[in-house]
Amino acid sequence: MDFKQYITIVENYPKEGIRFKDITTLMQDGAAYKAAIDEMAEFAKDKAVDLVVGPEARGFVVGCPIAYSLGTGFVPVRKAGKLPREVISVDYGLEYGKDSLTIHRDAITKGQRVLIADDLLATGGTIEATIKMVEELGGIVVGIAFMIELDYLAGRDRLDGYELFSLMTYK
Ligand code: PRP
Repeated sequence: MDFKQYITIVENYPKEGIRFKDITTLMQDGAAYKAAIDEMAEFAKDKAVDLVVGPEARGFVVGCPIAYSLGTGFVPVRKAGKLPREVISVDYGLEYGKDSLTIHRDAITKGQRVLIADDLLATGGTIEATIKMVEELGGIVVGIAFMIELDYLAGRDRLDGYELFSLMTYK
């Protein structure tokens, strides 16, 4: 399937010079959304994944259906102040902004095999922070799956040594 035809490019959003890749037009098409999730789950299916971890908010849109498809649990990574119990956190830089991410301290058991899933790889800051937290809790990152990779931001370079999958790449 040509997934790119379902992505809407929004010029100068959320600020001047950014060409925002809007995945909502892919999500609202049942056949495209299902095919996208199926391909991402396919990447992970022989990796003996125990848990899928996804950062809010669009990482949930991608990570939850992959977890359902694989029959694994899902663990949310959230921005500071959103998770109700004891967390660990990491500061990170975004393509446009800065924040900190958190995960429940008891969300991952040592040795669990983790697939990280998100809609978009831009600078890689979000996923780098997510990896740090997963590994601090003893998880093993066995793969990272994205819907979209923005090749020109070179996020992949920050994720050296991990197995990556991107459904679509923009050069
Ligand atoms: C976006 C996107 C990725 C991240 C990619 O999330 O969904 O998680 O940025 O950027 P990076 O590779 O430069 O870190 P955002 O923080 O905008 O949150 P949202 O999904 O809640 O809109």
